[in-house]
Amino acid sequence: MKAFLVEKYGKDGVRAADVPEPTVGARDVLVRVGAAGINPLDKMVRNGEFKQLLKYKRPFVLGHDVAGVVTEVGSAVHGFKVGDEVYARPRDLRVGGFAEFIAIDADDVAPKPASLSLEEAAAVPLVALTAWQILVERAHVQPGQKVLVHAGAGGLGSTVIQLAKHLGATVATTANTRSEELVRSLGADVVVDYTKEDFSKVLSGYDLVLDSLGGANLEKSLTVLKPGGLAISVVGPPDAGFAKQLGAPAVMGLVMSTLSRKIRKQAKALGVRYEFLFMQANGSQLRKLGALYDSGKLRPVIDSTFPFDQTLEAMAHVEQGRTKAGKVVVSMVPDGE
Ligand SMILES: NC(=O)c1ccc[n+]([C@@H]2O[C@H](COP(=O)([O-])OP(=O)(O)OC[C@H]3O[C@@H](n4cnc5c(N)ncnc54)[C@H](OP(=O)(O)O)[C@@H]3O)[C@@H](O)[C@H]2O)c1
Repeated sequence: MKAFLVEKYGKDGVRAADVPEPTVGARDVLVRVGAAGINPLDKMVRNGEFKQLLKYKRPFVLGHDVAGVVTEVGSAVHGFKVGDEVYARPRDLRVGGFAEFIAIDADDVAPKPASLSLEEAAAVPLVALTAWQILVERAHVQPGQKVLVHAGAGGLGSTVIQLAKHLGATVATTANTRSEELVRSLGADVVVDYTKEDFSKVLSGYDLVLDSLGGANLEKSLTVLKPGGLAISVVGPPDAGFAKQLGAPAVMGLVMSTLSRKIRKQAKALGVRYEFLFMQANGSQLRKLGALYDSGKLRPVIDSTFPFDQTLEAMAHVEQGRTKAGKVVVSMVPDGE
């Protein structure tokens, strides 16, 4: 089958190749990929940024988001059959959506939302799971709470705005001038144009901030929280909880605790909290999210779709910041279907 492989870590480390179809374990489903979503994480894994923590055996197929059709079902799998349309963010160390087929642990898979095309569904799993894990699992957002979502026009931000709004929060976001209309249509109540205004000068009293920019943006985000409020960053610095999540040795917990010491100290001085979040594959959360897409509460925002053979161009489009808003998808679906 055709696939895009990471052979060596680095900018030019991915190439198109013909590889054997994956073997299907007892707990797996084999999926013929219809479309795959691009995420900044693809570039980071390709560059080897996580190689100390996620020990991929090279060569491996890249790609963290897929939608497609089940073509084989492992002997221990219940609840899926050949022909089912599904979507997934396969778990770490078993990614590989940039290929004609992928074997995925059935626990990571959910039925594709019926109202979405394969391309639309491929834009959903990683960002929607991240939004769920931030807002529902970690922060337990309640109606009436105030949530600031940075980078609201991005793949992640555009999803977090919608889910926060659905949960009943008042939502503020940062976006550039041309994205204001889009982020308002997604549910943002307050829009700060980051090209003109400093959000930390105009916002205050927030219960939760999602930071996806890091550095000074994260430090300033602490100042808009109310006492006891929570800043969650998805770009770091990592904390000890992340090492625990990965099952890393205790020493890694210490390393990560050290990396986040400064920001945790700053948070403590302001009477607020800081946490790092690295999303996880989860098929049952994807089922709940699927229902929200089918009921129209959430919608995917798609910047552009590339044919599968242009996967490297699609990755470059994201990497070079050429997206106007939302997600980039590669499609195996022939034109007109
Ligand atoms: N830890 C996790 O589990 C996890 C999960 C998902 C994502 N992430 C990370 O989160 C980040 C965002 O992911 P994504 O998929 O949303 O990327 P994306 O689709 O490329 O979006 C990035 C967005 O950031 C906006 N932006 C840039 N500078 C900004 C600023 N100063 N203020 C406000 N917005 C700004 C860009 O808008 P312009 O068009 O104006 O440049 C763009 O809309 C990535 O670093 C990704 O790796 C982490």
